[in-house]
Amino acid sequence: MSFDAAGPISHLDAPSVIRTKRDGGTLSDEAIDWVIDAYTRGEVAEAQMSALLMAIFLRGMTGHEIARWTAAMIASGERLDFSDLRRDGKPLALVDKHSTGGVGDKITIPLVPVVMACGGAVPQAAGRGLGHTGGTLDKLESIPGFTAEITKSQIRQQLCDLGAAIFAAGELAPADRKIYALRDVTATTESLPLIASSVMSKKIAEGTKALVLDSKVGSGAFLDSEAESRELARTMVELGVEHGVQTRALLTDMQTPLGRTVGNAVEVVESLEVLAGGGPDDVVELTLALAREMCDVAGLDGVDPAQTLRDGTAMDRFRDLVAAQGGDVGSLDAAMLPLGQHTETISAPRSGTMGDIDAMAVGLAVWRLGAGRSVPGEQVQFGAGMRIHRKPGEAVAAGEPLFTLYTETPHRLAAAASELDGAWSVGDHAPPTRPLIIDRISM
Ligand code: URA
Repeated sequence: MSFDAAGPISHLDAPSVIRTKRDGGTLSDEAIDWVIDAYTRGEVAEAQMSALLMAIFLRGMTGHEIARWTAAMIASGERLDFSDLRRDGKPLALVDKHSTGGVGDKITIPLVPVVMACGGAVPQAAGRGLGHTGGTLDKLESIPGFTAEITKSQIRQQLCDLGAAIFAAGELAPADRKIYALRDVTATTESLPLIASSVMSKKIAEGTKALVLDSKVGSGAFLDSEAESRELARTMVELGVEHGVQTRALLTDMQTPLGRTVGNAVEVVESLEVLAGGGPDDVVELTLALAREMCDVAGLDGVDPAQTLRDGTAMDRFRDLVAAQGGDVGSLDAAMLPLGQHTETISAPRSGTMGDIDAMAVGLAVWRLGAGRSVPGEQVQFGAGMRIHRKPGEAVAAGEPLFTLYTETPHRLAAAASELDGAWSVGDHAPPTRPLIIDRISM
């Protein structure tokens, strides 16, 4: 590429780049750097990037292409650096977590304060909902006043004083921000190269020193098979290590939703139950497993994450964090978070045992209730969501509620309920159990 006074002059053009990938070719480093930069600056049209994303979705990328695409997305913005920050004269134990996307996956909300209470410092660049999966920012913004639009100096201050900041990626990897929003509405989310580069560009740019990934396996995950989720985890671990971030991953089950709530405010309510020392077993188990990995990779010795839930210190840290980011802590006390006023209950047709509940169907139902987006930038409904009254393997009495659906727009209820048709059953026997934590992947 050469430059004149008006900016870069390139011999590359979007149709040729799209054509190369459409026809199964490999994109050159130059083509990748150019298309990411030009798209971020608005010189490649949304329609052209949509076509390229679909070509990548269908044709895939080589390991080298993924690494280059990730590096180009990091280079599209700034890379934060907190290595100068000190607490009690010592460098901060900077560590973060990211999930590849799941249904009912509210784990970041209890996990961040647990790690704060263990002495870690979490610079968490969080995302919005993608496809059928929810986003941490959409959930947290259901707390009145809470904002993730915080300045760099506030992030630094919070990391030193409190041990965490949860922020919108903003100028970090702005190429990902645009591509993420486009993937959400062009059916191009479920792609290994696009997930790996999206997650890792944000996480490398956010300035963490260590990272634990939660790569989901099962119907509610973006990738179909365990082999693909494993490959995704390996790819992301390699990308992190190449960029100097100590990275490891857990492979975890996402065949059935996590916990008993799916949506925005309802998931915050359940997270508060976990922070109060209760909550569903699977949410507690995964929170603690990820917290132990984070403390270990950050070198925090002799800490007990479970104790922080028992003694209330994690709850105290969460309240500090919410208050620092403008949230109304009073609304947490009174469980005043907004649940949709229009509801529908699905009841048990017979007595027996709850069978498997399909995570993808639940994710789509909650999306239809208004918890996610169908056009870029759409405002989600904080009150949209679902309560799952009986988890797989639990006893069911005929006529009792199994699912309660919440929305602010009643015309959505019928379509959401029909997503659940055939996605659950009540039978005579408990379904086979699966481990929640399937494997651990490191280099
Ligand atoms: N999380 C992300 O940040 N990006 C994805 O593509 C999927 C999950």
